[in-house]
Amino acid sequence: MTTPDYSHLPRDADGRYRSAKLPTMRGEFIRLESKIEERFGPEMWQQRLEDPKSLIVLDLFCGAGGLSLGFQEAGFFVAAGVDVESWPSTSHGYNFLSKGVVQNIATIIDPEQFLGDLGIPRVDVIIGGPPCQGFARIGRGKLRSIEREDYYTEVLNNLYREFVRFVEVLRPMAFVMENVPDMARYDDGELLRRIEASFPGYTVDHRILDAVNAGVPQRRQRLFIQGNQLGLRSCLKRSCCRQSADHQAGHRDVDHRFATGRQHFIVLP
Ligand SMILES: C[S@@+](CC[C@H](N)C(=O)[O-])C[C@H]1O[C@@H](n2cnc3c(N)ncnc32)[C@H](O)[C@@H]1O
Repeated sequence: MTTPDYSHLPRDADGRYRSAKLPTMRGEFIRLESKIEERFGPEMWQQRLEDPKSLIVLDLFCGAGGLSLGFQEAGFFVAAGVDVESWPSTSHGYNFLSKGVVQNIATIIDPEQFLGDLGIPRVDVIIGGPPCQGFARIGRGKLRSIEREDYYTEVLNNLYREFVRFVEVLRPMAFVMENVPDMARYDDGELLRRIEASFPGYTVDHRILDAVNAGVPQRRQRLFIQGNQLGLRSCLKRSCCRQSADHQAGHRDVDHRFATGRQHFIVLP
């Protein structure tokens, strides 16, 4: 690849190029192989799916899978991720032994049929980070400047409802929704109260966590809303809830809780 010639571009007093003036460059095209299709084979995915010890996760709005990674490291099996864009879905399928689905979640009329079509018999945990541009303070100024704030406020701010709908229909054992901390302050906290009240039958709570406390060399706060059907509060600590086929079968006296100390997203005491 030849290095582009920037010599004609203006520099500031310190000799640095100003990023706004830099041309957009397209790098080399990389084709990401699907872990299921090309590296491990569908049999391994099927095996994990059928393993009664697997805790099956569905990642909605999956992106390249940051949230999925936390769950995978905690011992969960992320069976599928859904994203409206093809690049994130392809990346998800590359990063995980997972079906990366390209679809607008709002167009999935019947979540049960959607899972059936994917060959996934049940989901133990639903996770997801619905788009947050409409809530993020940093994004709003930028969005106003491109006159699309209405679109973000009306369309993207409502996508969390799709997450709620999937939980309502699929009734997983637990869920974790991630968003920017401003979602908690939106409308004086009314939105958060409404969201938390949207999950009847679940014990729900939320916490704002900072990535810097999870070994990430960056201060990045995020809101995590968790809910579970085990009646457990304060789940967002460093341990994790594990449920096996016994639980699915109704043997709820079996204690499958464990702590690994590695994962940072979910946990039950
Ligand atoms: C905040 S990112 C999620 C990041 C991800 N949880 C992670 O940890 O990497 C939101 C994602 O939602 C996707 N998205 C936006 N609207 C969507 C829709 N209607 N259906 C499915 N995915 C959508 C975007 O393409 C984007 O990748």
